[in-house]
Amino acid sequence: MTDILCVSHIPAFAILGDNERDLRQLQSIFLSEATVVGFTKTSELLDWLGDNDCDLLLLDFCRINEQVEDQPLLKCVRQTRSMARTPVIIFTEGIDASMEQRFLRCGAKDYILKPFYPDVVRRRVNHILRYEYLHNHVTQEVSYQVALAEKRLAASRRLFQEMVLALAKTIDAKDRYTSGHSERVADYARTIAEKAGEPQEIQDEIYYIGLVHDIGKIGIPKNIINKPGRLTDDEYTVIQSHTVIGASILQNIDEVPWFAIGAHYHHERYDGQGYPQGLKGEEIPKLARIIAVADAYDAMTSTRSYRSALPQQTVRAEILKGRGQQFDPYYADIMLSMIDEDVHYRLREHTPILLTSHHSA
Ligand SMILES: [Fe+2]
Repeated sequence: MTDILCVSHIPAFAILGDNERDLRQLQSIFLSEATVVGFTKTSELLDWLGDNDCDLLLLDFCRINEQVEDQPLLKCVRQTRSMARTPVIIFTEGIDASMEQRFLRCGAKDYILKPFYPDVVRRRVNHILRYEYLHNHVTQEVSYQVALAEKRLAASRRLFQEMVLALAKTIDAKDRYTSGHSERVADYARTIAEKAGEPQEIQDEIYYIGLVHDIGKIGIPKNIINKPGRLTDDEYTVIQSHTVIGASILQNIDEVPWFAIGAHYHHERYDGQGYPQGLKGEEIPKLARIIAVADAYDAMTSTRSYRSALPQQTVRAEILKGRGQQFDPYYADIMLSMIDEDVHYRLREHTPILLTSHHSA
C-alpha cells in the first residue's frame, strides 16, 4: 500500500482516538504495512511523539478542540520532535462544511469517515503519504531523475558514437587500400563545417555522415573493391552502386535521416556530372557537398593500390580545378584554406613511412 515510504522504512502511524474500538479497527487495517500505535490519552501520545518518528497522525475529530497547556491540541502536537511536517488525517462519523473548514484550518490534510471501510482508509492514507513524500522530496527527486536521465543520455550517445565508429571500421576493413578513410573524411568534413560557421549540432551530423558515407561498399564484391590497378567500365559501374546501396541500408534509420543523404549523394558533382542522380549545384544536399570535398581530398592524400599519396600542391591544384565543377566553390575554398594553413602537410593518411619522413624533415 505505502509503496513510496516502504522503500526506505516501515512507516509508523499514531492514532489519537476516543475509544479502543476505533483504535483496534484502524490498527487492523494497517497491520502488515505499518507500525501503528494507538492512544486515547493525549499526554501518552505527546510522550510517544517526543521519542519516536511518526509518518502519519490519525486524529478523531472530537479531539480537535482539545487544549493542552492552553494551546490547541494540534499546535502542541506540531511542536513535538517528529510532528513538525507530518501529515494529520481526521476521522469522524460525519462531516459538514464548517467541520471541514475547521480541520483544514488546523492543518489536517484529509478526513476518513466512520464506519471504516478498509479499502477507503488505505487509499486515503496512501494518497496523503504519496503527496507528502513527493512534496518533501520533490527537489531531491527531480535532481535525481535529471541526473539519471543525463547519465542515460550520455550512455546512449556514447553507444551511438561507438557503434557508428565500429561501422566505419567495418567499411574500411573491407577495402585494404582505404584503411582509416571513413574516419579521416569524417574529421575533414567536420572541420569544413566548423570553418563554414555551422553550429555544433550540424558539425556532429557531418562527422557521423562522414563515418558511414561509404557503407554501401559492404554490398560491393571484395575482388572489385580490392582490385589492384584500374577498373573496367563494368566494374566502375558496380563500384558506383555503393551510393544507392548505402542509402538503402541507412534509409530506415528514422532517428538519423541524414545518414542516408550522405551515403546517397556524396558522389554528386556540382556541375551535375556526378552520380547516382546527376544532381546539380544546390540541388545536392549541403551535407553531401561537404562530404564530397572531404572525400576527394582524402582519396588524393592517401596511398592507393596504384599510386602513393599525391604531393600537397598537386592536391591543392586538383581541388582548385574542381572548384565549381566537381565541388561546391564555397566548400572548395574552405578546403583550399585548410591546405594553405597545413604547412607541414599533416592532413593526410599517416602511414608509418610518412610519419618517419615527417620526423626526419
Ligand atoms: Fe564513396
